[in-house]
Formats: sequence, C-alpha cells, structure tokens
Amino acid sequence: MAVEKEKKTCGQLMGEWKEFVWNPRTHQFMGRTGSSWALILLFYLVFYGFLTALFTLTMWVMLQTVDPNIPKYQDRLAIPGMMIRPKTEALDITYNVTNTESWENYVKMLNGFLEAYNDSRQVANNEFCPPGRYFVQPDNGVMNYPKRACQFNRTMLGSCSGLVDTTYGYREGRPCILVKMNRVINFFAGANKTMNISCAAKKEEDALKLGDIEMFPANGNIDLMYFPYYGKRVHVNYTQPVVAVKFLNLTANFDHNVECKINAANIATNDDRDKFAGRVSFKIRVDRE
Ligand SMILES: *[C@@H]1O[C@H](CO)[C@@H](O)[C@H](O)[C@H]1NC(C)=O
Ligand SMILES: *[C@@H]1O[C@H](CO)[C@@H](O)[C@H](O)[C@H]1NC(C)=O
Ligand SMILES: *[C@@H]1O[C@H](CO)[C@@H](O)[C@H](O)[C@H]1NC(C)=O
Ligand SMILES: *[C@@H]1O[C@H](CO)[C@@H](O)[C@H](O)[C@H]1NC(C)=O
Ligand SMILES: *[C@@H]1O[C@H](CO)[C@@H](O)[C@H](O)[C@H]1NC(C)=O
Ligand SMILES: *[C@@H]1O[C@H](CO)[C@@H](O)[C@H](O)[C@H]1NC(C)=O
Ligand SMILES: *[C@@H]1O[C@H](CO)[C@@H](O)[C@H](O)[C@H]1NC(C)=O
Repeated sequence: MAVEKEKKTCGQLMGEWKEFVWNPRTHQFMGRTGSSWALILLFYLVFYGFLTALFTLTMWVMLQTVDPNIPKYQDRLAIPGMMIRPKTEALDITYNVTNTESWENYVKMLNGFLEAYNDSRQVANNEFCPPGRYFVQPDNGVMNYPKRACQFNRTMLGSCSGLVDTTYGYREGRPCILVKMNRVINFFAGANKTMNISCAAKKEEDALKLGDIEMFPANGNIDLMYFPYYGKRVHVNYTQPVVAVKFLNLTANFDHNVECKINAANIATNDDRDKFAGRVSFKIRVDRE
C-alpha cells in the first residue's frame, strides 16, 4: 500500500508542479500569495535600502574628514626631515678625482635636481617676494585657490649652481652637496625668526680634517618667504629652498662623516628616534693620489 502511494505517474507529477507554480484555487504563485510576495519584496527593498544608506552615510562622514590637499597621514612629528642631493642609498658620496665615471653621476643628479631652479624658469613661474617674512596666501573663501611660489634662483647657489663650474667642484675635489628640508604642509618654519643650516664633522676631532666649508646662500640662510607650503595640488610651481655646502679643503682618502642640521626656533634636531628630524648625516670621501 505504502509503496503504491509513493508511485505517481508522470502526468500527476506535472500536475503537481503546475499547481505549485500557479495554484488557481488559492491564487498562490510558487507557494505564496501575491500579498506574501509583495511583503517579501518590500522587506528586501527596505533591508537593502537601509544597507545602502548606512554605507553612504559612513562614506560621507569619512570623506568629510579628508582634505584633498593635505595627506591624511603626514609623517610629521612637527619636525621636518632633511635630505641631501645627490642622494645615494646610503647617503655616501665617494669618488675618485681622477676617475671621471666615479663622479659624473653625482653631477647628473645635481643637474636634474637644479633644472627647476633655472633663473629663467623661476622668473617665468614664480614671484619675487619680499625677504624676511612668510608668504601667506589665504584662500579668502575660494577653496583650493592656486598659490604662488617665491623665486629661488639657481644663481643664488654661487659656485655650487653648476652654471659657472659645471662639475660642482667634483672635478677638483671640492664637491658641493645640496641640503634641503622636506616639505611640510602649512608649517611656519622658523617661527618668524631667521633660520639657517649648518654643517660640521660628526666628531669634533675630525673638524680640521674636514676643512673649511662655504655655504650658499651665505651663512646657509633659509628665508621665511618660502613658507608656508600649501601642498602640491595648489602650490604647483613651488620650489623648496636649498642650501649648498661646498667642501673647500677635504682631506683626501678619508671617510668624512658630516652632519647638517637646521637651526630654527621651532625645529628640534635632537630626536633620538628619528635621525632625519631636522638633521641629516652623510659620508663624503674623495680619493686622489
Ligand atoms: C637650465 O639651465 C642650464 C644652464 O644654463 C641649461 O643647460 C638647461 O638646459 C636649463 N634647463 C631648463 C629646464 O631650462
Ligand atoms: C605655474 O607656472 C606656469 C608656467 O609658467 C604658469 O602658467 C602658472 O600660472 C603658474 N601657476 C601659479 C599658481 O603660479
Ligand atoms: C632671479 O633672477 C632673475 C633674472 O636674473 C631676476 O630678475 C630676479 O630678481 C631673481 N630673483 C631673485 C629672488 O633673486
Ligand atoms: C610673524 O610676525 C608678524 C609681524 O610681527 C606677525 O604679524 C605674524 O603674525 C607673525 N607670524 C607668526 C606665524 O608668528
Ligand atoms: C644660525 O641660526 C642660529 C639660530 O637661529 C643663530 O644663532 C646663528 O647665529 C645663525 N648662524 C649664522 C651663521 O647665521
Ligand atoms: C687645507 O687643510 C690642510 C690640513 O688638512 C692645511 O694644512 C691647509 O692649510 C688647508 N688649506 C687651506 C687653503 O685652508
Ligand atoms: C683613483 O683612480 C686612479 C685611476 O683609476 C687610480 O690609479 C688610483 O689608485 C685611484 N685612487 C684611489 C685612492 O683609489
């Protein structure tokens, strides 16, 4: 009996299937009435609508906290880092005067870096600013209003400009190194007081071996006019100030460890955790007969 009951003909199965898809008696489609389907549809509509709204709201709130002109995470301990040019991986400038190949790459790097500082380009792109004070450019209500930059002429680097002496002193063993401070957006470096960069042998007893150095601009000064920096999106023609250091009388065939630091009222240079904070150390060695 039981076995017989489970046996259904093909026609019966088709009938059941048809009834499941559409049951004319109960007006059910796929086992549910129209109102039941409508309720399910409504539920999912509300459910996904809610999810979309939640996502949108979260996104919106997050974007409110993002200023497109300022990186959200600036590696900034209120202390700008310093860097040199030419830059090598280990900040190690070593070459042999008689071996041109050993220094021509340094010259190339300096040429590349200083192209943007060509006087003609500075005059075409940037403004002549009054020295000794910040070049503050408020938005005046216009968001992301383009900012002008102040001229920093290549000729201000004197014999380290690569214009008169095209090898920056490398050929004669009196090389130039450029020292710069990394850009920090909206930072008023110097706190309204003059600042400068100074370089010295890392160990005091090596000072004589390092010999005299010459700085360009004079005294390693960095003018306030180059601050603040407003970020690359609005401050498109900005060229950061640099200081050139010329080693006049390096003792040859000796590893000189040099430290350059910035002397500015609001920049600490003694952060033990960050050896690039307000200072930079590098090695320079000139080999010759
Ligand atoms: C910058 O000036 C140097 C020397 O005058 C020149 O060789 C170089 O082509 C100039 N570069 C640009 C980009 O103007
Ligand atoms: C940047 O330099 C270009 C080329 O000289 C100039 O057309 C543009 O106006 C400058 N932009 C600003 C904001 O100074
Ligand atoms: C840069 O050089 C140009 C042309 O030599 C000059 O007119 C301009 O005043 C100089 N700018 C600065 C800041 O010295
Ligand atoms: C710098 O000094 C000027 C004039 O004394 C003053 O108006 C300005 O607010 C000062 N700026 C800062 C950042 O201290
Ligand atoms: C460099 O700046 C420091 C502090 O701002 C100052 O004491 C020193 O005299 C300056 N050095 C030169 C050579 O101008
Ligand atoms: C260069 O340094 C040596 C010692 O390292 C010294 O005897 C010599 O007088 C110095 N020359 C100049 C021009 O300062
Ligand atoms: C510098 O290079 C020359 C020529 O290649 C070589 O004879 C000399 O030994 C080198 N000097 C040093 C100190 O390496």
